[in-house]
Amino acid sequence: MDKKNAKAVVSVPPEAEVSARVEALLQRMSLDEKIGQLTQISGADFFPGPKADDIIRERGAGSVLWLNDTKRFNELQKIAVEESPSGIPVLFALDVIHGYRTIFPVPLAMASSWDPSIPERAQAIAAKEARAAGLHWTFGPMLDIARDARWGRIVEGAGEDPCLGAVMAAAQVRGFQGPYPGAPEHVVACAKHFAGYGAADGGRDYDPVYLSEAQLRNVIFPPFQAAVKTGVGTFMSAYMDLNNVPASGNRWLLHNVLREEWGFEGFVISDAFAIGNLIIQGFARDGRDAATRALRAGVNMDMASNTYPQNLASLVADGHLKLADIEEAVRPILAIKVRMGLFEHPYVDETLLDKVVALPEHRQVARLAAQRAMVLLKNEGGLLPLSKSLKNIAVIGPLANSMEAIEGSWTVFGHQPAAVTALEGIRAKLPQTRVEYASGPEIRRDIPSFLEDLMPGAKTPAQAPEEAESAFQEAVATARRTDLVVMVLGENADMAGEAASRASLDLPGRQEELLQAVIALGKPVVLVLLNGRPLSINWAAEHVPAILEAWEPGSEGGNAIADILFGDVNPGGKLPVTFPRKASHAPLYYARTITHQPEDHPQYRSRYWDGSTAPLYPFGFGLSYTTFSVTNLKLSAPRIKVGDTLLATADVTNTGQVAGDEVVQIYLHQRSGSDSRPLRELKGFERITLQPGETKTISFQLGPDELGYWSTSAGRWIQEAAAFDIWVGTDSLAMLHADLEVVCGE
Ligand code: NOJ
Repeated sequence: MDKKNAKAVVSVPPEAEVSARVEALLQRMSLDEKIGQLTQISGADFFPGPKADDIIRERGAGSVLWLNDTKRFNELQKIAVEESPSGIPVLFALDVIHGYRTIFPVPLAMASSWDPSIPERAQAIAAKEARAAGLHWTFGPMLDIARDARWGRIVEGAGEDPCLGAVMAAAQVRGFQGPYPGAPEHVVACAKHFAGYGAADGGRDYDPVYLSEAQLRNVIFPPFQAAVKTGVGTFMSAYMDLNNVPASGNRWLLHNVLREEWGFEGFVISDAFAIGNLIIQGFARDGRDAATRALRAGVNMDMASNTYPQNLASLVADGHLKLADIEEAVRPILAIKVRMGLFEHPYVDETLLDKVVALPEHRQVARLAAQRAMVLLKNEGGLLPLSKSLKNIAVIGPLANSMEAIEGSWTVFGHQPAAVTALEGIRAKLPQTRVEYASGPEIRRDIPSFLEDLMPGAKTPAQAPEEAESAFQEAVATARRTDLVVMVLGENADMAGEAASRASLDLPGRQEELLQAVIALGKPVVLVLLNGRPLSINWAAEHVPAILEAWEPGSEGGNAIADILFGDVNPGGKLPVTFPRKASHAPLYYARTITHQPEDHPQYRSRYWDGSTAPLYPFGFGLSYTTFSVTNLKLSAPRIKVGDTLLATADVTNTGQVAGDEVVQIYLHQRSGSDSRPLRELKGFERITLQPGETKTISFQLGPDELGYWSTSAGRWIQEAAAFDIWVGTDSLAMLHADLEVVCGE
């Protein structure tokens, strides 16, 4: 391809010019071509039906997905530009969720950093690599609040909290998109899945969702609204029924809230096949009905279900839909293409990706992100950090040398450049030490995912019981030969993600049994967890002296694990999600309302008679190699008027021996009002670094946004005169307290 033509534009055209060009294009397009722009087609070989080349040649296409081949991008684009009737270029789209070639920690892990600069930098690099490969658009960030750890897709989001979720949402949009949707060296972002997907009944992927308007507005919507405020270019409608109206046919959601209330001006794409699925869901009568209802609800582009191209023309012909409805849907799609300069520069320089991927900064940021994402859950007797002069060490577990587990879910682009496993990271850190490795028995899903069927390559047969037994014995023997053991346990990459919900949160397979056998040897043991969801590691929490939650940390994960285990980095991540003791406690989250029988009341004791439902680890929790104190909580005024803003300040001191990070968190609770309000809600946070003995004063603003809420009783946003509790501390159990009185304005 022509190099000059592949160079990106540097400035976004003024909006008036964008609209004028969009109108001029619409003038010359046939109805068929307009429908073509409302269609996203598959570029994957596995997909049945007409070839992308032929569809594009005939009527063009809004976008192509499930294709990851730079040469093919240019080939298809050439057909779009030179052979399709109006020569409108195609947007190439893919799920670049936490890295393209350089893989960053999974989004749940990046949220654990409580440092928005991490996802922002990571997604900017992901965007740069993806754009260099010829992609224009990613299906991220995923902004679904998830309070049920059984739901597999919890790994793709920022966890359970709307405040943390909104901060991470904005950061990811900034990272992916840069200054505007389609900016050079960036990709257009897509806020998904709108909305409520994370609250699937029973944590079962795709199952129906029932959420009150108050839950939607107070809990589920804030990250999406933050994405709109940050200028996100596109939205994806969710799969499931929301209060009996499928999200992809839900006009209240996609039109009233998204466009009318929030002023979203980009375009909405359905999730894959979701428009066609409106029939399966018992909502639409047939394809015509599905197309009509999705379009009227506000879905601009049909992802892969072919329902729009098969039905819209006849719906217009017989007057069911107006041409104006179609054009209305096409406009924001064309506008994004114009704004990103796609007409001037439709092709990608095929030599670019290799140069971009090789930039050392990408790996450095991947390592930093992984370091900052990890959460120290336990460190009894200061076992960590370990000495670098150990004579020998065993690294044990089915994930210890697994590249897949380090990279995590949604890395469908091959291991290039290779990720560093935990074992490799430890070996690199300890060149003088004998590092022994044994995997122990393999772990695998009981029921494979349908997604696995779509992936090329032979599937490995399951390990026979006798092979598993000998792997188990070998692992114990390896541990016996060494002075210290690092166990790397958790979940394989395919155990969290789409179609990866589970009924148990225990360590899969024989991992806990292996852990027990190793602990029985009486040696110091460190547990490193690689997983994409909270796990109910009750036995480990009691018996293993040191536990590091490493999540699925990405390409540099193994190095980051070694950096933390051997003290080159002091961990400072915090849990973005509650760890329940049992899967059956889900959904379990800190911001619940108080009932008439408060759980911690001595008379009522517990919710279940067969065990405490107190979290194993609370939201916001994480340890450090140093200690901190938070003192001196002060409010700028103990009493304010409705509508006013106050400042809360507190002093944070590093009371230990080494430098470290603390995440200071502020929570509030409204004691009475039109509605009962959550026990506590996070309203601000800041991650800071302190030297030993150093103190910093942190301040948080509390104003109408923090003190108000959407009330079921009032049916709108309100702020009330009421008494509030304020807590500042280092997790959601923070004890440092102040009273606040909010009084009537007049
Ligand atoms: C289905 C998933 O739900 C969605 O998150 C993803 O972006 C699309 N498939 C496209 O791959």
